[in-house]
Amino acid sequence: MTRTIAQIREDFPGLKAWHYLDSGATAQKPQAVIDAMVKAMGVDYATVHRGVYDRSARMTLAYEAARRTVARFIGGDEHEIVFTRGATEAINLVADSWGAANLKSGDRILLSTLEHHSNIVPWQILRDRIGFEIDVCPLTADGQIDLDAAQAMLTPAHKLVALAHVSNVLGSVLDVARAVALAHGVGAKILIDGCQAVPRLKVDVAALGCDFYVFSAHKLYGPTGIGALWARAEILDAMPPWQGGGSMIDRVTFAKTTWAPAPQRFEAGTPAIVEAIGFAAAVDYVEEIGLERIHAHELALVDDLREKLRATNSIQLFGPDHSAGIVSFAMEGVHPHDLGTILDEEGVAIRAGHHCAQPLMEHLGVPATARASFGLYSDDSDIAALMRGIERAKRIFG
Ligand code: ALA
Repeated sequence: MTRTIAQIREDFPGLKAWHYLDSGATAQKPQAVIDAMVKAMGVDYATVHRGVYDRSARMTLAYEAARRTVARFIGGDEHEIVFTRGATEAINLVADSWGAANLKSGDRILLSTLEHHSNIVPWQILRDRIGFEIDVCPLTADGQIDLDAAQAMLTPAHKLVALAHVSNVLGSVLDVARAVALAHGVGAKILIDGCQAVPRLKVDVAALGCDFYVFSAHKLYGPTGIGALWARAEILDAMPPWQGGGSMIDRVTFAKTTWAPAPQRFEAGTPAIVEAIGFAAAVDYVEEIGLERIHAHELALVDDLREKLRATNSIQLFGPDHSAGIVSFAMEGVHPHDLGTILDEEGVAIRAGHHCAQPLMEHLGVPATARASFGLYSDDSDIAALMRGIERAKRIFG
């Protein structure tokens, strides 16, 4: 039987008596994830890929099963999933490995105005080493990546396009299939930052046709400290190692070292074993509820909140209507940080600031926004509490 949101909310010990509207920063964890991790760190704990004893063999199976679960979740193959510390590390891995091997002076890459710093800075660091050019695709008036502009900008000099699937500030959703067609049309590879997409949209990398897809577990109701890089098999197989150490080698001599095949080649050192188990438990949890249901639920909340904010006549809304789970806004005469503090006193948690997207803030003409971001457990009571806090802020600031 389908469980109600009130019942689902009970799965999250972190949500008691709290209106948590910061799932875009990090999602709360269901008991199923916590239990899976406690078990993995307790009675099941052992290393992976090394032990000759039974418990290590079982833990290795569980770790590799987690990789299969994560791969299946986004329509990929298990050999195409590299566990990383998160999406940020995944992008840095692609930049340092694929980027350093394939980009050269005179090449160009295309990012967009709304990218998170983690999809800007790694490319700038590499640009400063190699000397390629970074182009920035503008946004439409309602805050979507302007793919018509991308089409006009892309040339055969572009070797990579790297874009967010869902904006962490505006909730705008990229037409990935079109972005892929545009990138491939000029012979460029395309990386998609899926951090804010995977908790709410069904992703199928095979159908999307992209070359790299990155995401973090902690926004998907899983643990911090782990994420995934998916890369098309033939691309990943050809990528040079990134970090050296144990587990990523085939044979080491002082004269020459040879590498393990992908994905092991990119997982030097003892991996985040417990976190991988938690990651898979989070995927199972989300799949049991169903991404279609989660997305529809969040869309209804977004529509309701945007309507209520609009009705105050003192709020500037950013981003498109029907955005995916995220609403950014500014209140006339009230700094987002002050609003965040007043809301905290009301038991409401939002994020206020630049959201690691300073170029986007500059584009919007504000130093910061207030951002409410929903999760599968969010409900009308969260919106009501947020609106109460906003009314209070209005009274305080006149
Ligand atoms: N990228 C995270 C956010 O948007 C940290 O809050």
